[in-house]
Amino acid sequence: MKKLKLVSVLLIALLMAILAVGCSSNNASSSSEGGEKGSKGGKVNVGIVLPTKDEPRWVQDETRFKDALVDSEYSTEILFSQGSSAKEKENVETLISKGIDVLIIAPHDGAAAGAAVESAKKDDITVIAYDRLITDTDAVDYYVTFDSVAVGEAQGQYLIDHAGDGKGIPLYLYAGAASDNNAFLFFEGAWNKLQPKIADGTFVIANSSEAESLKDKAELSRDELGKILGQVTTNWDPNEAKNKAQTNLTAANTDLKGDVAILAPNDGTSRAIADVFGTDPDVSSYVVTGQDAEMASIQYIIDGKQSMTVFKDVRTLVTDAMGMAVDILDGETPETTGTYDNGSKEVSAKQTDVIVVEQENVKSELIDSGYYEASEFSGL
Ligand code: BGC
Repeated sequence: MKKLKLVSVLLIALLMAILAVGCSSNNASSSSEGGEKGSKGGKVNVGIVLPTKDEPRWVQDETRFKDALVDSEYSTEILFSQGSSAKEKENVETLISKGIDVLIIAPHDGAAAGAAVESAKKDDITVIAYDRLITDTDAVDYYVTFDSVAVGEAQGQYLIDHAGDGKGIPLYLYAGAASDNNAFLFFEGAWNKLQPKIADGTFVIANSSEAESLKDKAELSRDELGKILGQVTTNWDPNEAKNKAQTNLTAANTDLKGDVAILAPNDGTSRAIADVFGTDPDVSSYVVTGQDAEMASIQYIIDGKQSMTVFKDVRTLVTDAMGMAVDILDGETPETTGTYDNGSKEVSAKQTDVIVVEQENVKSELIDSGYYEASEFSGL
């Protein structure tokens, strides 16, 4: 009798322990790839999918999302796709199974992401493209973005203003991944500014026969842009950027060295390219662009190794995206400022401006605004 009582007490204790573990794993951050907040009973209101953790740009976004969500009454989960459209689709399916009502997604590949968001749409989920547009599908409802053409224009203008006087300045062109619609917009913006200065001989294109053959054309079609990108893409990969820069410099004769201008599409590729140009004995000076205001690039700018970056205040983008999501959850229609053609529909969009940061204004733009702490940099 006593023995039986002991066994049943033990059984009950065991049952309670199993239940406790079960409950806590429901509330815990179950994803090793992302953050999650308050997913009560497994239900998630807003799913966020970001392209990769390997670039500081997207880790910045994750951090800013987490900061913005501290006081949110809605539950959210952030997952990373690690540069894979298959993983991205799997992430979206996971979030659908958790009952999300809104999906915020920065696609790895803008066209390939169509399949993932179409399955979300089938479940009546509202889809917000974040920073990168999802192309050739009706299954995207909203787009929150920076003014990406303005990013490229700022880069192009910077090169014009800082590459020195005279004619025949060698111009090295690099671009982002052709699978990312933004890469086209950035290049288009840069071309808007640079093309007249290439046509009038101020710049001489050093590394793209396709760009060279189009140098008298102010407006390029998507196909023409695609041809140039095909030659000068970095695929957003610093290693690829480094290899391409090395190959370009090996092929260049001394006329294409000396004082040079370099259009680098973002900070990661800019640092890699700058390292290559900075160690070539025949390159006397270079001006190089960037974007994202990554901390490593801010240090490069302070040290005089990168000339500028285009600061895209991720806090604003996150606030816009979450503001939209909350409006949708509250049954309201989000405010938008324009539309973007994604090849299949005009997507309602909210757009944010960008700021050029160089040595002189690092402090006023990034430290005084509370974006970074001065103590995170040396020599400031
Ligand atoms: C983003 C950039 C980023 C790049 C590479 C683009 O779509 O707008 O901020 O540097 O992707 O990840």
